[in-house]
Amino acid sequence: MEKVIKIEGGHRLAGEVKVSGSKNATVALIPAAVLAGGPVTISGVPDIADVDSLSKILRILNADVREMGDHLIIDPTSMVNTDLDADVVTKLRASYYFMGALLGKYGYVRIRMPGGCYLGPRPITLHIKGFEALGAKVRYDKGCYTIKADKLMGAKIFLDIPSVGATINILMAAVYAEGRTIIENAAKEPEIIDVATLLNKMGANIRGAGTNVITIEGVRELQGCFHEIIPDRIEAGTFVIMAAACADSMKICNVIPKHIEALTSKLQETGANLEIGVDSILVTKSERMHGVNITTKPYPGYATDLQQPMTSYLTQATGISEITDTIYTERFKHCLELQRMGADIEISTGKCYVKGPTMLYGDKVTATDLRCGAALVIAGLLADGVTEIHDVYHIDRGYDNIDGKLKALGGVIWREKVE
Ligand code: EPU
Repeated sequence: MEKVIKIEGGHRLAGEVKVSGSKNATVALIPAAVLAGGPVTISGVPDIADVDSLSKILRILNADVREMGDHLIIDPTSMVNTDLDADVVTKLRASYYFMGALLGKYGYVRIRMPGGCYLGPRPITLHIKGFEALGAKVRYDKGCYTIKADKLMGAKIFLDIPSVGATINILMAAVYAEGRTIIENAAKEPEIIDVATLLNKMGANIRGAGTNVITIEGVRELQGCFHEIIPDRIEAGTFVIMAAACADSMKICNVIPKHIEALTSKLQETGANLEIGVDSILVTKSERMHGVNITTKPYPGYATDLQQPMTSYLTQATGISEITDTIYTERFKHCLELQRMGADIEISTGKCYVKGPTMLYGDKVTATDLRCGAALVIAGLLADGVTEIHDVYHIDRGYDNIDGKLKALGGVIWREKVE
């Protein structure tokens, strides 16, 4: 028996939705908390499966973890640096942040290969390059990485690609390193600023987060602190796309509009009506949408995580849209599911062509990864009939209460056990 999400399409959405705390910031902030010498309170924590998995890892490390509403209180005082070879490590990609955090704190970590969505090859060679530059020795055997250093020393590290994960992992490994670390060609995503802000509140000395050169002066001690997570720009973007696709009027609240400018300007190019406020975006029905070309890029470019939801939207736009993913060239499995629902999509290497507008029909489809799930929810809302989405654990890894939020907007969505 499997629990699926079912959506009855054709109901126009209306109302307000509040975006939760950023998943991709949270999954880095939780491991970062172990670097502190006292309790760290993180507020605005989304209710998603990835947070449960990271809390389990913290408990394996004997950290004290308490949930109070959307606050997570992590007290690492009694932590023990246990080998992280448990299955839970492979449930998500972000477990790799324990590499940087534990290496930074103890000079030693043994951890299984992280998991997460399959989006094509996702190497972590740049993370390793960074740890080695700081003086660590890295060994991979029996599915586990062992990373150790007698002493971590600040270094200059140039990232061949501005990797989000490598930038954050090196930040965490370098906060206690002796001397100055400089990360060049660092990733500039807002989640990196959020992690650096938390670490600085703890007493770290990090400058330049949000630019492509980050400087870390090593410190001896970090304390506990309070930190509120930034809003989830990808959840916000998903709702903005959804609203443009099938809402009469939807206000998306708790948004930092600047974080999704690449998306909102693209949507406006398609003809969508958006009113961009200080911390909200109002989307009202537009009569006609036309196709556009999209190329994903590192921040502030168009986010790869919003490429898949946008594909569903573009099935309703007139003309041919060319969507190129330069970050994950194999991130097109959602297209096969959308084709099953009637979409006219041609898949090519690293890109797809969406021809619209086409009618979508409810069918049995599979969320092959998190954002594919989001794309299928949007398609389900647009489709004629009932869409049955399988493997919804992917969606639950990253979207906080998606069913509840959609129901409040007038969506007809429910979960059901099927054979
Ligand atoms: N890359 C390398 N070598 C490395 C690291 C990365 O070649 O050592 C390549 C990757 O293969 C990819 C590119 O660099 O082509 C960017 O990867 P990055 O390391 O920036 O991605 P990530 O840190 O693994 C995070 C998000 C992803 C998001 C990407 C890109 C988290 C936990 N994950 O992954 O989010 O797609 O950045 O913005 O923060 C999602 O939320 O659905 C998701 C997949």
